[in-house]
Amino acid sequence: MRTRFSPIGLFDSGIGGLSVARQVMRMLPNENIVYFGDTARVPYGTKSPETVIGYSLQAAAFLRSQGVKLIIIACNTASAVALQAVQLASEVPVIGVIQPGAAAAVAATRNGRVGVIGTQGTVQSLAYQNAITDLSCSTSVLAQPCPLFVTLAEEGHTYHPGTLIFAREYLHPLLRQSIDTLILGCTHYPLLQPSISEVCGPAVTLIDPGIATAQEALHLLEHSEMRNSSTSLPRYEYYLTDLPLKFIEVGERFLGRKLDHVHRVQLDDLPNIF
Ligand code: DGL
Repeated sequence: MRTRFSPIGLFDSGIGGLSVARQVMRMLPNENIVYFGDTARVPYGTKSPETVIGYSLQAAAFLRSQGVKLIIIACNTASAVALQAVQLASEVPVIGVIQPGAAAAVAATRNGRVGVIGTQGTVQSLAYQNAITDLSCSTSVLAQPCPLFVTLAEEGHTYHPGTLIFAREYLHPLLRQSIDTLILGCTHYPLLQPSISEVCGPAVTLIDPGIATAQEALHLLEHSEMRNSSTSLPRYEYYLTDLPLKFIEVGERFLGRKLDHVHRVQLDDLPNIF
């Protein structure tokens, strides 16, 4: 039985979803959280939509088995290809990051030229491109996959000469097209924000879809009277399908708090949906 005290569930292919979790912790400070990071099968961004849908259904089934009251797909690649499948399979509300991120970018752009960076899977799905043009047909969207950013983020290279080199390589083509707004369309990318903002400069507004997604979660819980009003300290649990030491090290640095409850879950123990 789910109550307002039940946790919010978030899942991602790895560490990147912590950028969404961070916004949820900030905007919904009383909520308990269960985070699932599929660190054994990261990256999702280079895999086929069918594979990512299968992984996402498993992650969502795991979160439901933990009694969550809301699922946030804190992975752009999974949101792009699996949102509908996960919604259909779930008896709790499910939100993704694409729609909120697209709406925030449309609201932010002044010249109607929006850049989107993401994984190969997200860019090829056209999910952002379609969501933006549905909201504003006069906005043009330039999309660029940045596959190496995921590894750089997993390694914690937030501000690093290597990250800057690849940021220039990936972002200059978009900057030459005069974008004034850039969606960080992969949950790993906000971890690299210091390097990305240096390359983009102050004239480009960076959109972290995690912010608008946490706002949507807040509205949804308020509207359904499921917001946790307890004043006791929230409990944050992290479940990983593999335990890279880096998850804890980079995660603690990024969240600015200790990750006390990190558990390993074996892939074989995940709900079998195949
Ligand atoms: N963090 C995921 C995303 O937001 C993708 C990283 C990956 O697994 O390729 O798209």
